[in-house]
Amino acid sequence: MQISDVRDDIAEELISSQEISDKIQEVAAEVSADYAGKYPLLVAVLKGAVNTMSVFSQAVSIPVEIDFMSLSSYGSGTQSSGTITVRQDLGCDVAGRDVLIVEDIIDSGLTLEWLIDELKRRGAASVEVFALLEKPARHIAQVDVKYKGFTIPDEFVVGFGLDYDEKYRNLDSIAVLKPEVYEA
Ligand code: IMP
Ligand code: MG
Repeated sequence: MQISDVRDDIAEELISSQEISDKIQEVAAEVSADYAGKYPLLVAVLKGAVNTMSVFSQAVSIPVEIDFMSLSSYGSGTQSSGTITVRQDLGCDVAGRDVLIVEDIIDSGLTLEWLIDELKRRGAASVEVFALLEKPARHIAQVDVKYKGFTIPDEFVVGFGLDYDEKYRNLDSIAVLKPEVYEA
């Protein structure tokens, strides 16, 4: 789905589909070099990071294992609740693994802070993060993100995996939603 398909709901396109894929290729090249000779485990947080994981995992030039975890911090609103619940756990053991978390966006950072701690508790050899988007204005937890895509302003965005109330995940670019859509 493209911007033109949901024009009435969108205030502005922030990052085009081409810019997203160029950036992911760039990060993938960096990660492939950094993890050369290793077999990292890529962990994406469902559902928002699925689009990023898909493009990113195809762009890396080293063998990787892929797994998913479903966490919830939001409900259906636009504010992080700060309470993380595991809806669906990983299918593999992370002990001794080099884990790279693939995230859609770092907003409060609370989800990520929780996940990094949890993976370390489970005995991961290393834990790093690739976040496609970052909203620095909203950080509550300070987490160390080694691989970053784009820094965005403090606005609620949708597309490329990101939703509002489960909609717009299949938009191919990243866009700012008109406030009246979620205030309605
Ligand atoms: P946190 O506030 O950093 O814990 O963010 C948790 C999750 O909330 C992210 O991984 C996203 O799935 C979701 N989220 C945060 N900001 C936005 C946004 O602007 N649009 C859509 N989802 C968001
Ligand atoms: Mg997420």
